[in-house]
Amino acid sequence: MEHTDGPLVLGIETSCDETGIGIVRGRTLLADAVASSVEEHARFGGVVPEVASRAHLEVMVPTIERACETAGVALHEVDAISVTHGPGLAGALLVGVAAAKALALGLGKPLYGVNHLASHVAVDQLEHGALPEPCVAMLVSGGHSSLLRVADVTGHDDGIVSMGSTIDDAAGEAFDKVARLLGLPFPGGPHVDRVAREGDSVAIDFPRGLTARKDLERHRFDFSFSGLKTAVARWVDTRERSGEPVPVADVAASFQEAVCDVLVRKALDAAASEGIDDLLIGGGVAANSRLRALAESRAETLGIRVRVPRPGLCTDNGAMVAALGAEMVARGRTPSSLDLPADSSLPVTDVLAG
Ligand code: KG4
Ligand code: ZN
Repeated sequence: MEHTDGPLVLGIETSCDETGIGIVRGRTLLADAVASSVEEHARFGGVVPEVASRAHLEVMVPTIERACETAGVALHEVDAISVTHGPGLAGALLVGVAAAKALALGLGKPLYGVNHLASHVAVDQLEHGALPEPCVAMLVSGGHSSLLRVADVTGHDDGIVSMGSTIDDAAGEAFDKVARLLGLPFPGGPHVDRVAREGDSVAIDFPRGLTARKDLERHRFDFSFSGLKTAVARWVDTRERSGEPVPVADVAASFQEAVCDVLVRKALDAAASEGIDDLLIGGGVAANSRLRALAESRAETLGIRVRVPRPGLCTDNGAMVAALGAEMVARGRTPSSLDLPADSSLPVTDVLAG
């Protein structure tokens, strides 16, 4: 391996329904233990915050133990603890923050309270090596869709700048809602991805939000997916009323094409506008097979390099938090205070808590 040295960091992620404990040494991944409560939420069609918080509490200690065992590391050996302190569900974040403070205090190690979104960017270092800086990062998850200019992933000196974001639903939210319309289980993204492989992506011409000339002036790098979701709902409804069967695979493929087309177009436009040749895609929706393929083929013709972590590192996990923590240590950033708060609406530009 190229990077066998660097700080040994344990990262804790509890912003939504995944309890993630990751251990890294510098840019080398040693353990990535994830316990998900997703099945407990499935019958509600969305994550129930109270259920998620309780699940984090129950699995926290065993998941830490599992990560240490996999990494072959004893807790006292770690150099630092990092934790997602926002954005996310307040109660869920609190469980991770409390666990991180207890570990930092008990072990006498520094604590880094880091941003969940920046962690989705930093995780790519575990797979593809040092992040090219500056790069443009597109984050697409269940809660967020944003385009960022990343000059320094630790956020130092305004290192992360927001170029645009969704004005309504997040990309993953659109996948989840459309999946529900089509009778597919929650979370819907992976199911739409799978079903779409059997469908025709040009069967139905669904709208591409905020791509019309009149929208580009104010919203060139912003996204909107709620109009698309409504268009899919109307199309399905009309079909059902007519008594004809709904071609689920064609609807899934055409919807997925509309989302991916807009995401890739805007991400490449953002990179070109900044004169940046490196595009990173992260977050749960980056696991989508069509998004990955479309980004790679269109970027190639423009001479833009695309980095996307493997699907398991795109969805929420602890390794991403450890990866950003290790970068904080390596770049000599000042650790966070032990009275670190959980901040459910932390802006993407606030990468490290004071
Ligand atoms: O990053 P993530 O694990 O959690 C958040 O921070 O939100 O993202 C979860 C989202 C869900 O909306 C899920 O449906 C979506 O990512 N997702 C996908 C795929 N895998 C997960 N969406 C499209 N295609 C996929 N293969
Ligand atoms: Zn996430």
